[in-house]
Amino acid sequence: MSHSHDNLSYLVQPGGTATGTFRVPGDKSISHRAIMFGAIAEGTTEVTGFLEGEDALSTMQAFRAMGVPIEGPTQGRVVIHGVGKHGLQAPTQPLDCGNAGTAMRLLAGLLAGQNLAVTLIGDASLSKRPMRRVTVPLGLMGAQIDTAEGDRPPLQIRPVPTLKGLHYTLPMASAQVKSALLLAGLYAEGETVVTEPAPTRDHTERMLRAFGYAVVEQQSAQGKQISVQGGGQLKATQIDVPADISSAAFFMVAAAIAPNASVLIQHVGINPTRTGVIDILQLMGADLTLENVREVGGEPVADIRVRSSVLRGITIPEHLVPLAIDEFPVLFVAAANAIGTTLLTGAAELRVKESDRIQVMADGLRALGVEAEPLPDGMRIVGLGQPNQPVGTAKYQGATIHAQGDHRIAMSFTVAALCAKTAMQIHDCQHVATSFPGFAQLAQQVGIHLQVSA
Ligand code: S3P
Repeated sequence: MSHSHDNLSYLVQPGGTATGTFRVPGDKSISHRAIMFGAIAEGTTEVTGFLEGEDALSTMQAFRAMGVPIEGPTQGRVVIHGVGKHGLQAPTQPLDCGNAGTAMRLLAGLLAGQNLAVTLIGDASLSKRPMRRVTVPLGLMGAQIDTAEGDRPPLQIRPVPTLKGLHYTLPMASAQVKSALLLAGLYAEGETVVTEPAPTRDHTERMLRAFGYAVVEQQSAQGKQISVQGGGQLKATQIDVPADISSAAFFMVAAAIAPNASVLIQHVGINPTRTGVIDILQLMGADLTLENVREVGGEPVADIRVRSSVLRGITIPEHLVPLAIDEFPVLFVAAANAIGTTLLTGAAELRVKESDRIQVMADGLRALGVEAEPLPDGMRIVGLGQPNQPVGTAKYQGATIHAQGDHRIAMSFTVAALCAKTAMQIHDCQHVATSFPGFAQLAQQVGIHLQVSA
């Protein structure tokens, strides 16, 4: 997808705070899935709270290009006129997944068994990301998918009339791979069973059920097994997308590290496979509480209150890693402001996200003067917090940061600027629009001294 504004920069002056009551945009994982499942369902699906960010819009465009009538988005409302499981048409052009790994990997699974010729392409960041993790197991199901060198995009899906079910144990804790295989399983003969070594986000399982498709889960010695039978139908439904906890995380950390801060972030999805960031911040001592916990359309939701907090460094329990996988860039910023050392291990997956988030965050934190040691599968950060120091004390220099095409790096250093001694200049911020349209305005509104320049 082309960006209307290449090379946006943020200049963030030190000081500032985070106060107010607000909502952040819709959940990215749920928004992608709502379009995909609505498209192949029978009937009309209405989605509210949809993320109008570039990633989810890429998925929407892809289904329009395959002949699915989709209205919107208008203020987060999307209406999808489902064409049924076998109603998609071969697109005349490659489908552009933009920056979105979720779009490419889930589409690979969804399209592999539909007897369609489809090419999936992506932007510079996505074109570097590994696809072998989906092409190998899909190949075992009978899919024919060609990749560029090193198992990278583009993916060329060749038409095959059907797939066969597969029993597969994921080699890494990945919801994208799990979801790709379950979606391929909808088109396969017999049963597809995916075993996950550690719990990963379960939005696919929940949403398939919401569309009336049976998903069976059971524990085994190797981990949870999730199975679907091929051949069923999805029935249109209504989806209310909660606010994205991964976007809320930036303001949770901002409020924790800033002076005189207090935020109430409303209607945030708190699916237990996503709440590692809450657990980790609470282990670090954050003043963070959940209010008004409720269930909305099969997903738990709450308002999250965070106030200025004295944070302490911790050793992050490895079982929390997949449950906070997208929040580590901003958690590293929390660690830099904590008293004592934070150690993360078991997170090698961070190296194959929109950027190598271990290296890029370590480079950036070091530029601020923070001791940050990248590890093959994590990071050691020596926090600059001091006992008896007021929350929000400036602790490190500002610096010039390159976000490396990664939205979450840009937003993390915006938050870091709250406790810098000098201004932070962040380049390459245009990708913030992939997941968090309106981030800069919201940051200004809560009291972060951010200026955007093109
Ligand atoms: C996602 C799964 C995670 C996550 C990504 C969204 C999903 O990726 O990092 O932002 O929607 O399934 P992995 O499956 O690579 O862990």
